[in-house]
Amino acid sequence: FHVTWDAQSAEKGGFEHFMIKEIHEQPKAIKDTMTSRIMADCDEIKLDDIKLTSEQLKNIDRIYIVACGTAYHAGMVGKYVIEKLAKIPVEVDIASEFRYRDPIINEKTLMIVVSQSGETADTLAALKQAKSKGARVIAVTNVVGSSVAREADDVLYTWAGPEIAVASTKAYVTQLIAMYIIALYLARLNGNISVEEYRQIRDEMLTLPEKSQEVLDQKEELQKFAASNYMHKDIYYIGRGLDFAVALEGSLKLKEISYIHSDAYAAGELKHGSIALIEKGVPVIALASQSELYDKMVSNIKEIVSRGAKVIGFAFEGNSEIEKTVNQAVYIPKTLDILAPVLLVIPLQLLAYYTAVEKGCDVDKPRNLAKSVTVE
Ligand code: AGP
Repeated sequence: FHVTWDAQSAEKGGFEHFMIKEIHEQPKAIKDTMTSRIMADCDEIKLDDIKLTSEQLKNIDRIYIVACGTAYHAGMVGKYVIEKLAKIPVEVDIASEFRYRDPIINEKTLMIVVSQSGETADTLAALKQAKSKGARVIAVTNVVGSSVAREADDVLYTWAGPEIAVASTKAYVTQLIAMYIIALYLARLNGNISVEEYRQIRDEMLTLPEKSQEVLDQKEELQKFAASNYMHKDIYYIGRGLDFAVALEGSLKLKEISYIHSDAYAAGELKHGSIALIEKGVPVIALASQSELYDKMVSNIKEIVSRGAKVIGFAFEGNSEIEKTVNQAVYIPKTLDILAPVLLVIPLQLLAYYTAVEKGCDVDKPRNLAKSVTVE
């Protein structure tokens, strides 16, 4: 037994689970996914496996981002950043919904499929459907030579390294990096961002490996919140804009490894029904990184606190007025609003992990789930 334990432990790099090991590999995964593609001393984005030309891009009038689960949540961020930077309309769709809704696809369509394993049945089927109707397909995947990589016209590999835990963490943050790289690539191709704007975003992206390490260093706070909230039946997440996309991912992480019921709401939607769920002692994770939405988030937090919610608020360092409203505040290093998801998701991954550990769940292999859903 002793030998087995050592082998297992060595495989996990001394960590108790693959998931916490992979959470700690994120600074390196982020760095590796940017390396040789976006560089401090070069204004060109080098994507060896994407051949899309500016002429071909001129002929594109619609982009679909199609994926499942966590990859879909990365696609939601992709939609936001591609529209903001490249000014091209983007629809993001769950693959199992997309393929059956008779979507409008033709040779003017660009599809971006996102899939860590590159083998997800619904995502692969959506890819083939798009190809059969003349669309161009870019695959964002973590597995070299995977089915989506082979079927797509272009590939942008994430360099997260093998992800063993069923709950995706480092693959997700590298999918986010891939979304930023593609958004910048398209925006430079169609001239919708200047070199100065590109440099500002690129320079800040290059600080993310170090800033993500800073976030990991404050894991005790998340451990404490997990220790006092793992017994709850329901835990909700709220956010606006990009923070809503991250809230969905944080909620999925919690659900799939701790089995606690959880949901994520666009904070502006609370008054349209879901605030009826808030009662005394209900834990709510409130994400407030987006500066132009900060004041609205603070007022949403006040609304739920006045109905008894126990709120842990997440904001950039320096936005300390949130402390007057929430029960506990967690701060992440300041970065551009558009890049916030890369840092903001890390404490949510830690929160889900420590909650599942407190509950004694099988963190790396949660019940009913497989690492890659190759069946429909
Ligand atoms: C992630 O935590 C989940 N295990 C799951 O949602 C996963 O993201 C989804 O099945 C998509 O997998 P893929 O990225 O390999 O296509």
